[in-house]
Amino acid sequence: MEEELVKIKDEYRKQLQHLVSETEIYQFKSRYIGRNGSITHLIKELKNVSPEKRASLGKKVNTLKKDIESSVDEALKRSRELKKKQKILEQELDVTLPGRKSPLGSKHPVTVITDKIVGIFSSLGFEIIEGPEVELDFFNFEALNIPKDHPARDMHDTFYISDEVLLRTHTSPVQIRTMQKTSPPLRIICPGKVYRCDSDVSHTPMFHQLEGLMIDEDISMADLKGVLTILIQQIFDNDTLIRFRPSFFPFTEPSAEVDIQCVMCRGNGCRVCSSTGWLEILGCGMVHPEVFKNVGYDPDKISGFAFGLGIERIAMLKFSINDIRLFFENDLRFLSQF
Ligand code: DAH
Repeated sequence: MEEELVKIKDEYRKQLQHLVSETEIYQFKSRYIGRNGSITHLIKELKNVSPEKRASLGKKVNTLKKDIESSVDEALKRSRELKKKQKILEQELDVTLPGRKSPLGSKHPVTVITDKIVGIFSSLGFEIIEGPEVELDFFNFEALNIPKDHPARDMHDTFYISDEVLLRTHTSPVQIRTMQKTSPPLRIICPGKVYRCDSDVSHTPMFHQLEGLMIDEDISMADLKGVLTILIQQIFDNDTLIRFRPSFFPFTEPSAEVDIQCVMCRGNGCRVCSSTGWLEILGCGMVHPEVFKNVGYDPDKISGFAFGLGIERIAMLKFSINDIRLFFENDLRFLSQF
């Protein structure tokens, strides 16, 4: 037994030195001090040793066992640290690597036109105001001089949520909300989404409008014409002609629709303008005295103009797009052209 002890003592360190992985170290441990390990075996054998030798041998075996245990612990610690270091090395960040380029998107044509119009009006001193898309009947219709039984309501194909709540059918309610809160003078534009229950090549249930409102003492149709001329010539061409055609809106008097000279044929007549040479582009007029009364303004002291345009309509003319539904299909082949 004595010899056996010496042999183990000589060998185990050498063996342990070469072990790297935790599994190997555990296997080593069980070979020596596991249930069937050689040291465990020696301990069991002690009972066969003569009593005079037993005490000193027992002590030696125990010391060896403790040595092996602490060597195993150290080896495990070493192995774990090594593993950790390797992991860190593998994950090392190479800060000299060139960055990855993410592909650049482009602006949606509706955004391109909205930004353009907002830019033009900002330079004219107009403020940009937004309003809610879920709106009250009062702001969408009533206060704009469209009472419950007014035939103009038919034009709007309204999505009703309840009797008094609806999805706004135009951006005009933002006029009312702003006038209620602010006293004149006022110069605002209100871009945003509007909703109508309608769908074909030139209609989608959701589309974008932009409302304009200018109020002060002595605002006239000449101011309206001047502002709209600047707008249209900056969006299209500097020499694009415009014309005012008498029309009707309950919230303006007089009312007009504005046509521009056809951008395709320059007024000669083509398929796009149905051979008229003109394209309808927006609705406008002088704010109706009833509307002023509804918001507590005095129509004898102030006057103002308003207009409303469809963003998709302008984008279609500007970029020669023939189907409004293309704007909302999110087809990259379409969108990446702008
Ligand atoms: N709200 C109208 C529509 O959706 C557009 C409009 C016409 C707005 C005339 C105006 C206006 O402010 O004066 O069809």
